[in-house]
Amino acid sequence: MKVLILPTAERAAMHVAKLIADTVIGTANPVLGLATGGTMEPVYRELVHRHQAGELSFAGVTTFNLDEYVGLPPAHPQSYHSTMRRLLFDYVDIDLERCHLPQGDAKDIEVEAARYEAAIANAGGIDLQLLGVGSNGHIGFNEPTSSLGARTRVKTLTRETRSANARFFSSPDEVPRYALTMGPATIMDARQCVLLAIGAGKADAIARMVEGPVGADCPATALQWHPKATIVLDPEAASKLKMIAYYQYVHPDGQEPELGGGDGQS
Ligand code: GLP
Repeated sequence: MKVLILPTAERAAMHVAKLIADTVIGTANPVLGLATGGTMEPVYRELVHRHQAGELSFAGVTTFNLDEYVGLPPAHPQSYHSTMRRLLFDYVDIDLERCHLPQGDAKDIEVEAARYEAAIANAGGIDLQLLGVGSNGHIGFNEPTSSLGARTRVKTLTRETRSANARFFSSPDEVPRYALTMGPATIMDARQCVLLAIGAGKADAIARMVEGPVGADCPATALQWHPKATIVLDPEAASKLKMIAYYQYVHPDGQEPELGGGDGQS
C-alpha cells in the first residue's frame, strides 16, 4: 500500500482528484469506479472545476459506482443515481449512457447483481476504483464480516452505517436497510484502487486497514492484497498509524517521487 498523508483535508481531496484526472487523460477509453459519501464531495467539485477550466474532458469515460440503496428508484433524491448527477454527471461532458450504477429498485435483485458484474467485465474492467471507508472499516457497503471473496450482492447495512448516513435523509428511519454493492472481490479486480479518508472519525479504521491483519471484521483490509492501492489521508485520519513516521519519510507531505510505477512505499 502506498500511504500518502497530505497536510490538509483539502489537499488530500485535490490529490485524489489529480489521480483521477491523470487516469482519465492517460488512458484510452478510461473506466472509473466511483464512490459516494461526504468525503468525495470536494473531489467531485475539483473534477468539475477542472472540466469547466477546459483541462479535463469526460467524453470517453465510462463509470461504475460501487453501490446503491435497495428500494430507492434512481429518481429518489437520496439515491446514489441522483447523488452522482448532483455532484458530477450534470456538470461535465460525460455520456449518461456510460454512467452505471446498480439498479436498487430492480425487480430481481440477484439478476441485477449478476448483470452489474457482467457490465463491468464487458467494459474491460475498472482502471481506477475510487473508495471511501466507513468508520467500521466498510468499503462500498461491504460491512464487517463480508466475505472478502464476495462479488456484487445485497448487504444488510449495520445500525452504525444507517445512522452515519441518516444525515442525508430527513429521518434515520428513511435510510434503507439494504444496499446492492460491489463485493470486495469486484473491487480487487480494479487495476488501481485509490482510497480517501478524512478526519479523526476514520483514524481507527485506517490504522486497522493499513497495519492490522487482513480480516473480514474490517473489509477494507482486503486492499492489503491489492497490487496497486493508494491510501490518501489528512493528518487526522492518519493519526493512529504506528508507522506514520515512515510514511512521511517516504512521501513527505504526501508527495510521490518519480520512481516509476510501484505499488508500495517506494
Ligand atoms: C457510505 C458509502 C461508502 C463511503 C462510506 C463513508 O456508506 N457506501 O462508499 O465510503 O459510507 O462515507 P463518508 O464519506 O460520508 O464518511
